[in-house]
Amino acid sequence: MKKVVVLASGEGSNFSAIVDFGIKVDKVITDNPNANVIKRAEKVGVPCISFDRKEGDRKYGSGWCDRMVDETIPEDVDLIVLAGYMRILSPYFVKKWKDKIINIHPSLLPAFGGGCHAIRDTWEYGCKVFGVTVHWVIEEVDAGPIITQRAIHKFDDDTLESITEKIHRVEHYIYPETIKKIIS
Ligand code: GRF
Repeated sequence: MKKVVVLASGEGSNFSAIVDFGIKVDKVITDNPNANVIKRAEKVGVPCISFDRKEGDRKYGSGWCDRMVDETIPEDVDLIVLAGYMRILSPYFVKKWKDKIINIHPSLLPAFGGGCHAIRDTWEYGCKVFGVTVHWVIEEVDAGPIITQRAIHKFDDDTLESITEKIHRVEHYIYPETIKKIIS
């Protein structure tokens, strides 16, 4: 059985989609003690460890990002899945788990990478095509090799809310499918 660890900071809908798809998640790690993903993990019996985001900033979490590597990620982990994880991983972390970390981003990378509001930014730019990208994680944010990508076309009657919903629906099947391909 492959060991999969999920890192998440918020709602956790991608975590749930991964579990519902039948992928066994070893543990969830969050930087947000109030994240809804904690409740989702409890509900399905996946252990959840939380670091306090107040301790650090977006970049590396001022130290606990490295502690995470040493204290909470099993040595024999097969895949580290970032699912709405809002911290930038430290160079130490990325180096240690090279070729084992993936991320999902709600845009067609390299467009609208690096920020926290990719869907809104794509909308405000006036794009007619939105998208989702699953990619390997390297030190530079949202810049690693692309694994899977899907385009979502905007229709005239779409609103920011409706396009956001469509994007999440796409995420919820392409992320589990991609993970399954990688670990099998
Ligand atoms: C998703 O849109 C993902 O692409 C982005 O953060 C969001 C996380 O959503 N990286 P959730 O917490 O999985 O519901």
